Amino acid sequence: MALNGIEIISTGSAVPVQTATNDDFAKIVDTSDEWITTRTGMKVRHISSGEPTWYIGANAAKNAMEKGNVNPEDIDLIICTTVTPDFQTPSTACMIQREIGAKNAICFDMNAACTGFVFALDAARRYLSFPDINTALIVSAEVLSKMVDYTDRASCVLFGDAAGACVLRSADKLYSSSLSSDGTGAKLLCTRYPFNPNPLQDKEKMPEFDDLDTPHDNYLHMAGREVYKFATKALPFEVTRACERAGIKVDELSLIIPHQANVRIVETAAKNLGVSMDIMYMNLEKYGNTSSASIPVALDEAVSEGRIKKGDKIALVGFGGGLTSGAAVIEW
Ligand code: UT7
Repeated sequence: MALNGIEIISTGSAVPVQTATNDDFAKIVDTSDEWITTRTGMKVRHISSGEPTWYIGANAAKNAMEKGNVNPEDIDLIICTTVTPDFQTPSTACMIQREIGAKNAICFDMNAACTGFVFALDAARRYLSFPDINTALIVSAEVLSKMVDYTDRASCVLFGDAAGACVLRSADKLYSSSLSSDGTGAKLLCTRYPFNPNPLQDKEKMPEFDDLDTPHDNYLHMAGREVYKFATKALPFEVTRACERAGIKVDELSLIIPHQANVRIVETAAKNLGVSMDIMYMNLEKYGNTSSASIPVALDEAVSEGRIKKGDKIALVGFGGGLTSGAAVIEW
């Protein structure tokens, strides 16, 4: 079956009010503005003062719906991507549905870590190719400050909280994707769910699992250098493959919106792709790494700044935990 492309009707974003600068981090861990700026490109990030993931996500969704003049009752599907849900159940998508009044939507969450938005775009496009789903809402919402260890300087300075959203419909437009997953790299980036010991457990009978060799706490753990190496290869690989599948050359892309993890990753990847940094959209200096929210927040900013025009071919590309990576080429 031939699938249609997609049209992004509108985009939106939202952030918690509170911000933290590099100097704020220098007050709590042994770091400096100079180290963070030169190693990552980050300056400021938003940190939740209690705003839940679903709330920031719903604000991003409302922002996108308002800009697109979209009625909540017309939304047939809500996919929320998050690695930081407020509840194991209900899904964050159901919480957002409740808040925005999208009573006709089917709702579920997806976890593809920082690549979540690209995976969700691909899933939504497949749903939208069938006649019963006409309008989809993707919300990528993250409150990473819930799982960051604020005593670990190697990770705490990197992450921020934000949400990005878009409303989309099926359209006869160019679309291609390249998605990859590699569970053999699972332990390079992981956070465990809390586990409640119970009084019936018999320690003698506990089975041994070939579990990830990472600490048994609920903090985010990342093997930064390994993930860095993976990212510099994954980004050009996925963009090149998505362009090949779209039947276009990489130099036909007018903008690439990468996951905002580290400006050095994007610079190296741009070199490997043979493109100038001018077409790499970057805003991580204002948000830090917001996992799956980073691409739709950057997309929303790029649209507001007029960086994307009708007919442009752009690529969205992510990489992260799982390991996962992926790119989508879309026509605006
Ligand atoms: O979003 C999911 C995907 N995630 C990513 O793509 C992140 C990928 N990784 C990275 O971006 C980089 O690896 C980091 C930014 C996390 C780290 O940068 P790096 O250049 O790879 O630094 P490093 O881990 O090799 O550490 C270099 C030094 C170490 O000190 P020694 O051992 O050389 O004395 C660290 O202890 O920098 C030290 N260090 C810090 N120093 C000051 C680590 N964190 C800090 C810090 N401030 N915040």
